[in-house]
Amino acid sequence: MTEVLHVDPEHPDPETIERAAAIIRSGGLVAFPTETVYGLGADATNEDAIRKVFEAKGRPADNPLIVHIDGRRMLSLVAREVSPAAERLIARFWPGPLTLVLQRAGTVSASVSAGLPTVAVRMPGNKIALEMIRRARTPVAAPSANTSGRPSPTRAEHVMSDLGGRIDLILDGGNTLIGVESTVLDMTCEQPVMLRPGWITREALAEVIGPIGEPASVEEQKRSPGTRYRHYSPRARMIVVEKSTPEFIRKLCSEALAGGPVGFIGHTPIRIDDDRFTSVVLGEDPKAYASQIYSALRELDEKRPALIVVEGICDAGEGAAVMDRLRRAASEILTTDGHR
Ligand code: TXA
Ligand code: MG
Repeated sequence: MTEVLHVDPEHPDPETIERAAAIIRSGGLVAFPTETVYGLGADATNEDAIRKVFEAKGRPADNPLIVHIDGRRMLSLVAREVSPAAERLIARFWPGPLTLVLQRAGTVSASVSAGLPTVAVRMPGNKIALEMIRRARTPVAAPSANTSGRPSPTRAEHVMSDLGGRIDLILDGGNTLIGVESTVLDMTCEQPVMLRPGWITREALAEVIGPIGEPASVEEQKRSPGTRYRHYSPRARMIVVEKSTPEFIRKLCSEALAGGPVGFIGHTPIRIDDDRFTSVVLGEDPKAYASQIYSALRELDEKRPALIVVEGICDAGEGAAVMDRLRRAASEILTTDGHR
């Protein structure tokens, strides 16, 4: 049985949070909101609890977890060396959607990092999350609280639909603020490398610590195993269209209707006179996309469509995080000129 408790995001009820913290301390699993997406939390120092996280999600054992902390003091339990550059980023961006990969300290269970000598760590910008970690008095390992491969959860109902019956508790704090996962930055190389784009942009990081590198090789990509799998995906076939026209999208959707219901998510209103066509129109800005894309994908997926078409946005600034997720979720990427 999975219990659901509502929590006021601004004034989390101490008794409810204590209950969640007690479950974490005793080796159980608690889903909780962060400012990005919901996480599936477990005591990062408890090997058994970590095994349960991988099991509940169906997550490949070689994909390491992010450890969540409540402040600078807990960081010393998790990471061994914190460089001056990392310190500057922490001062500027924590609490917030920036995950730093650092050298792992001994208290963190090795399976959290899938055996890597490093650990990914962040301090979430969410009162419910911070209070729960503080009361648990232990670092909390938490991947996104979805079944492995599916869109990340931005509402408690999404967690329930994926993990109901497999975890102890869901803290329901309503919609998450940002909607896409944190930026992951590897601080263990000569030049810091961005392993996953997120709401904290490359430009914002560079302002604080200078140029940020790209994962140069397959070897470097391997350091963030999570980026290798198809991810964030609906069950339906999904096509992302980039640099396209309303006519192109309309034609694509109309033709696909021959095969069954079709869903569309985009910023261009597309009208097709067929009740098997469902469209979700979002603002063109990255903020609108980020906060609604995962719930829109889940909503359309429920209609068991033959195809979901998603219109891309500009791949710059915060848009880079959105487009990264869309491309990974896609079965296919199209432009008006045809295949990429
Ligand atoms: O916003 C977020 O980061 C959310 C919330 C819950 O905090 N969490 C999240 O976790 O997205 P998850 O497990 O879905 O993604 C973790 C990513 C994966 O791509 C994984 O490969 C990478 O972080 N990662 C974790 N530990 C790593 C390490 N030691 N070295 C390199 N990459 C690592
Ligand atoms: Mg995830």
